[in-house]
Amino acid sequence: INFCTPRERKYILEVLVNGLKRLEYRGYDSAGMIDGGNSTNTDNKGPPIAVIKQRGKVSALEEKINSKKNEELDFEFKFSTHTGIAHTRWATHGVPNCVNSHPQRSDDNNEFVVVHNGILTNYKSFKTFLQSHNYEFESDTDTEVIAKLIKYLWDNRESETIQFATLVERVIQQLEGAFALVFKSRYFPGQCIATRRGSPLLIGVHSKSKLSTDNIPILYSSCKLQLCSGMKYRTCFQQTLFPTAGTNQSMQLCRLNSTTELVTQNGESEGIEFYFASDASAIIEHTNQVIFLEDDDVAAVVDGALTIHRVKRGKSTESTTRTVTSLQLELQQIMKGNFKSFMQKEIFEQPESVVNTMRGRMQWEEQRVVLGGLMDHIDEIRRCRRIIIIACGTSYHSAIATRQLIEEMTELPMVELASDFLDRETPIFRDDVCFFISQSGETADTLMALHYCKKRGSLTVGITNTVGSSISRITDCGVHINAGPEIGVASTKAYTSQFTALVMFALMMSEDRFSKRKRYLEIVNALKELPEKIKEVLTLDAEIKKLSDSLYKKKSLLVMGRGFNFATCLEGALKIKEITYMHSEGILAGELKHGPLALVDVDMPILMIVSKDNVYTKVQNALQQVVARHGRPIIICENDDEESVKYASHILKVPHTVDCLQGILTVIPLQLLSFHIAQLKGLDVDFPRNLAKSVTVE
Ligand code: G6P
Repeated sequence: INFCTPRERKYILEVLVNGLKRLEYRGYDSAGMIDGGNSTNTDNKGPPIAVIKQRGKVSALEEKINSKKNEELDFEFKFSTHTGIAHTRWATHGVPNCVNSHPQRSDDNNEFVVVHNGILTNYKSFKTFLQSHNYEFESDTDTEVIAKLIKYLWDNRESETIQFATLVERVIQQLEGAFALVFKSRYFPGQCIATRRGSPLLIGVHSKSKLSTDNIPILYSSCKLQLCSGMKYRTCFQQTLFPTAGTNQSMQLCRLNSTTELVTQNGESEGIEFYFASDASAIIEHTNQVIFLEDDDVAAVVDGALTIHRVKRGKSTESTTRTVTSLQLELQQIMKGNFKSFMQKEIFEQPESVVNTMRGRMQWEEQRVVLGGLMDHIDEIRRCRRIIIIACGTSYHSAIATRQLIEEMTELPMVELASDFLDRETPIFRDDVCFFISQSGETADTLMALHYCKKRGSLTVGITNTVGSSISRITDCGVHINAGPEIGVASTKAYTSQFTALVMFALMMSEDRFSKRKRYLEIVNALKELPEKIKEVLTLDAEIKKLSDSLYKKKSLLVMGRGFNFATCLEGALKIKEITYMHSEGILAGELKHGPLALVDVDMPILMIVSKDNVYTKVQNALQQVVARHGRPIIICENDDEESVKYASHILKVPHTVDCLQGILTVIPLQLLSFHIAQLKGLDVDFPRNLAKSVTVE
């Protein structure tokens, strides 16, 4: 037996903590970790598993781990293989505290432990059932039910040789809702089981030599619904619809360090390491080889060898292997470099990120747009009855920003907020084309809307920034915006890249229409010049920093505009809210007189976006209305706008571009403004309170 030395164990804990830090942008209320392995010196329950949890950010957990290490020295020497699981939480139900953070456990002895990303909708009945069988609960989470349920199945096992993966298969057959789970158990040392449904989960595979196979075969089992057969409580699960409950938008990372004889090309017994994670950024410093798990896959690492199981459901179309994919992601892309925060870095990356969105797609010489991911379906899209664009948050704003142009070029679109779209049970038909815009590709509301539209037979198109994400895999076709990883919780470069991708889509839809030719060429030329103009806008940084001095103590900020710039108002106000915690509202200037004007006085900070487009005169009217009420607007306008300057308390001038792209240039000053205000207020720009980057619960 190769004992795991304290040094190796320290390394493993560091891998886990660093992995969590890379995922922290997705949730940061509390964090936890288990530390356990394969011991020779066990009691009849197997080697002990230590659970360490801490409220707050991952660094707080790290401190706690460091302070514990020496106390547990004798625990350290006993491992031949070592597995850890770590998790950082974004609470929905159940306050962020130690007991509610993950891992959740089956009992005081930590016989089964689990981390969970997602939300269970049927946990309440299980809780009642398990409580009636004397299983005591300690947390307010839905996840604890999973830990107790697996123990229940273990306690009531029909055979001593039952496998860990089989127990997990049986557990997930009882679960409703969304989950990615990683399990460990004292009874199965050297084993780690992961599974998913609805929430993302991937496996990183690291081997010193090349893997001999690109595909991992699936092992099918015919595991029966053992738990529910003959049990009274099952009927009530099926009849009741439970409210959303529990925790968490969170993530897990597990690493198993061991050896296997198989899988390397030269047949050597080379060490292979497996990492389970919610997203590739947690593991990219170790490997770029990943397997994306499908819903209901159960991946088991047993003594260093990986197998993937699932329960056979009689679907002949199911793929029987999982492919090992090479990711392009670079470690440098997920590091801050010389910037103070990821958000600041991402704002300044925009001249390059929009180029990357256009790269290979804008064929400048031929003045053509080729979105390869849509080519197979473009005729169907052109023939469709309606285009419905569905998204949340900033991604929704990118749809608002481009709606007018898509309308002009295709005469088709509607824009929907995913949650509202679902609440209204919006009618969807086979001849609709539904677009799903999502930076992460994992937002639960958007994902649910996607399933809803797929069920109704519409063509589905994904616009995402995350290769391998659920939305990019489930949609029929789509466009990766290629903005590079976005870590700052407040979305910036993904917005301008989504915007650019949607403009390219509008162009592609209209390239054969003679009546639109002039407009088409005008936009193609403007896209070519866009990166340079973004660079010019970024030179306003110092001036905006100065302006922030006069604003950061204010309570509120109104952002007004209309037409192509309305989305900038919504998105700018969202940035202000998200990271400065100031009240901010994006106001359609046409609606000013119908209410918001009551807010205007000499003290109210007001920002007006003015462009020389078809609504210029109307925005001038709004400006007059504000000035007449002693408002002192800060104006973002084009370089040569002499008229607006007369009414401004402060002016930020941006270069002119074609009307439908002007929103990209007007939103950047607002991104910078929110960043500087948050800095002046001493706030954590990358980790705004109560938010998470990717919200995988409804
Ligand atoms: C969360 C984030 C927002 C984001 C929204 C949609 O709420 O905090 O910044 O805009 O989700 O995310 P998506 O990944 O679908 O674009």
